[in-house]
Amino acid sequence: VIDIRKLYAQTGTFTYDPGFTSTASCESGLTYIDGDEGVLLHRGYPIGQLAEQSSFMEVAYLMLNGELPGQDELAKFNTTITRHTMLHEQLATFYRGFRRDAHPMAVMCGVAGALSAFYHDSTDITDPKQRMIASHRLIAKMPTIAAMAYKYSVGQPFLYPDNRLSYTGNFLRMTFGVPAEEYVVNPVVEKALDRIFILHADHEQNASTSTVRLAGSSGANPFACIAAGIACLWGPAHGGANEAALNMLHEIGRPERIPEFIARAKDKNDPFRLMGFGHRVYKNYDPRATVMQKTVREVFKELNVSDPVFDVALQLEEMALKDDYFVEKKLFPNVDFYSGVILSAIGFPTTMFTALFALARTVGWVAQWNEMISDPEQKIGRPRQLYTGPTQRDYVPVDKR
Ligand code: ACO
Repeated sequence: VIDIRKLYAQTGTFTYDPGFTSTASCESGLTYIDGDEGVLLHRGYPIGQLAEQSSFMEVAYLMLNGELPGQDELAKFNTTITRHTMLHEQLATFYRGFRRDAHPMAVMCGVAGALSAFYHDSTDITDPKQRMIASHRLIAKMPTIAAMAYKYSVGQPFLYPDNRLSYTGNFLRMTFGVPAEEYVVNPVVEKALDRIFILHADHEQNASTSTVRLAGSSGANPFACIAAGIACLWGPAHGGANEAALNMLHEIGRPERIPEFIARAKDKNDPFRLMGFGHRVYKNYDPRATVMQKTVREVFKELNVSDPVFDVALQLEEMALKDDYFVEKKLFPNVDFYSGVILSAIGFPTTMFTALFALARTVGWVAQWNEMISDPEQKIGRPRQLYTGPTQRDYVPVDKR
C-alpha cells in the first residue's frame, strides 16, 4: 500500500528517488563536479592544479575558510593543527580494548567517536569558534588515530607526533618509525602521500559526507558525526573500494587473466564488479585517477621498485575502455583504481587504505558539517518513504495464531 496521495496532500510535493540519484539534499559552495566532463573543483580550483601545486594543509584551509591562505595564514594554520596532533593519553588504553587483528577502520570508527568523551569543551555546535576548534582537532588527530591503529595491529609501540615534521611527514613517521631509530621522511613519498590526501579531501554529497550531514542535522556532536562518516566510508562500494581494487588486481595476477575478469564483470548472473571502476557522478574519466596514475610512476621511480599489479591495472584499464559494455555504461577508472598500488609501494597494508581515505576525507566532512550548521535554513534531515507493508490489521494473541 503506497500512501503517496496522502503524502502529496501533506507536503505538496513528493519524490521517490532511491539512492538519491537526482535529489539535491543541500546547497553547498565547497565542491563542484561535472561528471560528464570529468571536472572536479574545490572552491573553484581544479583538482589537478591543487594536486600538483598546493599542499594538503592549504586545501584544508581552503575548504574550511573559503579562500587559499596567504603565507602568514598558512603558517598560523599549520601551527594550530600541529598543536592538536596529540591524543589524550587515556585513549591509548582505549585502543588496548580492541582485538589485535581488528580492522583499522573499526578502530578508527570507535576512537573518533570516543573523542566526544574527551573533548567536551568543543562540542557546543552553536558556537562557530568551538566548531572550528573541533574541526581543527579532528583534522589534526586523525593521522595520530590512524597511525596508532596501524601500530596496534602490528604490535609495535605507539609513537607520539613529532611536530617538527609536516602533517604528512609526521603521519609517515608515526606509522613506519620505531622508537629506537631515527625516521627520515622521504620527500618524494611525502609529496605523493600529501597529493593522495588532496585527491581524497572532498567529493560533495557522497555517501559518507551525506551521512556526516545527516548525523549532524540532529545536532549530534562533531566527533560522533565523523565516526558515522567513517562507518559509511568503510563499505566496498565507497571508500573500501581501494582495498577491494588492489585485492582484485592481485587476484587477477597476470595480464592473460584479464579477459576472464572482464567477462565476469559483464555477466549479469555474476555479482562480481571491476573494483575501482565506475562512479555515480563521473561518466567520464575521474580526474583524480589521472593524477593517481602519474603518481604511481613517480613513487616507483623514487623507491626503485616495480609491481606487476601496476601492469595488470594499466592493461585492464586499456582493455575495459575498448569494451562495448564499459563504453556504453560509461564506466571509467575512479580514484580508487590506482591509489592502492601507490599505497602498497609506500608500505601500507591493504587494510590501512580506507583508513587513509578517512584521514583525508575528514577535511571535507568537517567543512561540509560546518557549512551545514552555519546555514540558517538547516533542518534535521528526515527522508520520507513509500510504504509497502500491510494495511491496518488487528492484533491476534499468540495462543490464537
Ligand atoms: N563493473 C561492472 N559493471 C559495473 C560496474 C563495475 N565496476 N559499475 C557499474 N556497473 C554496471 C552495473 O552493473 C549497472 O549495470 P545495469 O545498468 O545493466 O544494471 C550499471 O553499470 C550502473 O551501475 P549502478 O550500480 O546502477 O551505478 P551506481 O551509480 O549506483 O554505482 C558504483 C556506482 C557503486 C561506484 C559502481 O560503479 C560500483 O559498484 N563500482 C565498483 C566499486 C567502486 O569502485 N567504488 C568506488 C566508488 S568511488 C569512491 O567511493 C571513492
